[in-house]
Amino acid sequence: MEVKMSKKILVIGGAGYVGSALVPKLLDAGHYVRVLDTFWFGDGVFNDWILKNSRTSINRLGFVKGDIRNCDLEQAMRDVDCVIHLACISNDPSFELNRDLGRSINYDAFLKVIIAAQESKIGRFIFASSSSVYGVKNTPNVTEDMCLEPLTDYSKYKAFCEMELQMIPTEKLPWVIIRPATVCGYAPRMRLDLSVNILTMAALTKGKIMVFGGSQIRPNIHIEDMTDLYVRLVNEEDDRIIGRTFNAGGSNLSIETIAELVKKIIEQCMAKKIEIEKVPTWDLRSYHVSSAKIERQLGWQTIRDVPDAVVHLMKAFNAGLIPNPDDPKYSNIKTMKVLKIQ
Ligand SMILES: NC(=O)c1ccc[n+]([C@@H]2O[C@H](COP(=O)([O-])OP(=O)(O)OC[C@H]3O[C@@H](n4cnc5c(N)ncnc54)[C@H](O)[C@@H]3O)[C@@H](O)[C@H]2O)c1
Repeated sequence: MEVKMSKKILVIGGAGYVGSALVPKLLDAGHYVRVLDTFWFGDGVFNDWILKNSRTSINRLGFVKGDIRNCDLEQAMRDVDCVIHLACISNDPSFELNRDLGRSINYDAFLKVIIAAQESKIGRFIFASSSSVYGVKNTPNVTEDMCLEPLTDYSKYKAFCEMELQMIPTEKLPWVIIRPATVCGYAPRMRLDLSVNILTMAALTKGKIMVFGGSQIRPNIHIEDMTDLYVRLVNEEDDRIIGRTFNAGGSNLSIETIAELVKKIIEQCMAKKIEIEKVPTWDLRSYHVSSAKIERQLGWQTIRDVPDAVVHLMKAFNAGLIPNPDDPKYSNIKTMKVLKIQ
């Protein structure tokens, strides 16, 4: 029988898109959470949760404003049972903007994080890699045992980080690697630079969706499924996850199909006509990721799909939760340019 225990968790990069939805869930599950982040995308992402909760619950949430490249990581990990490592320059364009910066955070600082985690005797280290580590594959189902052929620096450093972790004996650092699909849906720190989110917001705000190419198949995962999985990994039994790597995704859909789904949903729900315009592109990278291993070994599978994420976003937009969608804060690369992050 699974025994649920309250843990002390450090979420590095916890004020980002995934973290902003994950941290409240961890708190609601009774855990103590410390968020270590530079807060580049704002520091108010937990305000709603804070407003709705009692002082006793709020006291289980703590913040460390710092940069993993130079902050005191062991101090941040003091008394922590579990680390969830999400911090990075988290997409290809942002990485390419300043490759030295990308490398310094996504790889060099990662090495410091895993050394500190070992020194601090962290009981569980959960690393957010990416399904983009596979590169382009023609096989119908990309599984965890296939070779990694990353095509961009962002994916290459994710693969390097995985290799660094895999070299550490699990008795020294009990690690688990997750390779998530592209995340979609609403979160308090919103990202409008991810495929499903881009298409949905274009339909909502412009009535027109631009589809670049269209035939590329990419895996997607609803933010609620993504964050449910991390919550589950915190309390999963060691022998089911430690030392293992799992893909985590839901439906693999072509960009064309996503655009058609978005059009249908927004036209039905908002009674407005949505146009789809196709634009040729060189980027026809396609991959179809299988999440059969995690389903087989942990019995975990997604329970939401892309249409759910479209509706999730539409409702948030209609409720005024995404004011001024052109604000640079919703795009990682625009924020990096505005803040002149070095
Ligand atoms: N969102 C996706 O579609 C997706 C898909 C696959 C994998 N992932 C991975 O999941 C993780 C979270 O993604 P996200 O979408 O929430 O990204 P995000 O960019 O929204 O969040 C990253 C957070 O890390 C923080 N951060 C960045 N550099 C830092 C540093 N040097 N020190 C401290 N904090 C720092 C940022 O301020 C931000 O709050 C990332 O590792 C990403 O690669 C995300």
